Amino acid sequence: MVSNDTDPLAWTRDYTPILQSLAAEYSESKPLEGDTVALASHLETKTGVLVETLRAAGARVLVTGSEPFSTKEAVVEALQELDGIETFIEAGMSDEEWEAGQHDLLEEEPDFILDDGCELIAKVHADHPDIAEGVIGGGEQTTAGITRVEAMEEQDVLQFPVYGVNDTPMKHYFDNVHGTGESSLANVMTTTNTMLSGKTVVVAGYGYCGRGIARKARGMGAWTIVTEVDPRKALEAVMDGHRVMTMGEAASLADYVITSTGNREVVRKEHLDQLQDGVILANAGHFDVELSLEDLKAESNDVTQPKEGITRYHLSDGRRVNVLARGRLVNLTGPHSQGHPAEVMDTTFAMMFAAAHDMLTQDPDLTPGLYAIPDHLDREVASRKLETLGIAIDSLTENQREYYEEWEHPDSSF
Ligand code: NAI
Repeated sequence: MVSNDTDPLAWTRDYTPILQSLAAEYSESKPLEGDTVALASHLETKTGVLVETLRAAGARVLVTGSEPFSTKEAVVEALQELDGIETFIEAGMSDEEWEAGQHDLLEEEPDFILDDGCELIAKVHADHPDIAEGVIGGGEQTTAGITRVEAMEEQDVLQFPVYGVNDTPMKHYFDNVHGTGESSLANVMTTTNTMLSGKTVVVAGYGYCGRGIARKARGMGAWTIVTEVDPRKALEAVMDGHRVMTMGEAASLADYVITSTGNREVVRKEHLDQLQDGVILANAGHFDVELSLEDLKAESNDVTQPKEGITRYHLSDGRRVNVLARGRLVNLTGPHSQGHPAEVMDTTFAMMFAAAHDMLTQDPDLTPGLYAIPDHLDREVASRKLETLGIAIDSLTENQREYYEEWEHPDSSF
């Protein structure tokens, strides 16, 4: 007789050893006792485990989603059972209800904000300036959010220091490249039940996410084309063996277009004429503005749903354009989406935990602004990860350390 494990977080705990080690380490000393931490992130099982970890370290945790459609009800229900955790989101909420929940959360006056997309950080500044004054600091998880924090810093409106968690090597080298790469392609294939092998995949943006998507698509046997606006990234894509061209040229060759630019209208009216009948469009960037759905709607005489998670636009000349997950994050908001693999969110969320722990307990005395997380914290998470994998690495010998510190190199034979 096999019984179901009804705890929705149980499986994920097994694949998040760094968070488990942090929870074990801090569950007695409770360094975050007395602190209220607000967390906005896609509310699924990995986020649930981060919430548990913050709670284990003593924090009161206020939880919302960084996007209403990625919320998993079972996770919300499991968190609601726990003492010291308050949720401000439910699955199926409209955009308006989700926003209202975020304002209710902010009214609870958090000490620290862990954000994804700069949703809470922007709202507390725009709509709750008195509460923003009392916030000790924040951490931002994703590229799109960092861009917004930079804009706030530039305009001199930021009221507290924010750690750019996305910009740490332990986040973007792994989460953006491997997590987004694997989970986006997995969801494109699962939603459509099509194969990438032998197809042409156009990837817009060759940043961390785009390079992961393009490399992994090619690894599965697809022909890859990259579009870019940055000449160095474009050249990198060329040197990595992808074809590089404008979207205007690529659109006519695409079986799939996957956007990951953090920008808007990357596929727009001028490209629609070029698309092949049956093309599949998906977005892996943070906001649902990379594919211009307005233009698609305007050019269509019918919109249907041929399969769950797929919106089909019937263009007036008979061509059909399929958009996955309503143009929202394909790896997080589709019917089968589970987000990044837990192993990679383990490192990202360990960095989020480190951001809160460092600012709340080490008092780094920072003025308002965007800051890099201290490098030793990034290395510490890398070491923990290697430890959990049972991998040992060499360390510098004294002679090697001295060699790095010299500039004359007296023992060189040159
Ligand atoms: P990045 O800044 O490393 O790369 C973005 C690239 O897009 C840059 O090379 C830029 O030159 C290029 N780009 C900008 N406008 C373009 C245009 N019109 N056409 C073609 N290329 C253009 O950013 P990263 O880390 O790759 O993130 C990209 C997006 O993905 C962001 O919105 C980020 O928040 C999101 N993201 C999504 C994740 C997911 O789970 N789906 C996970 C991590 C990030």
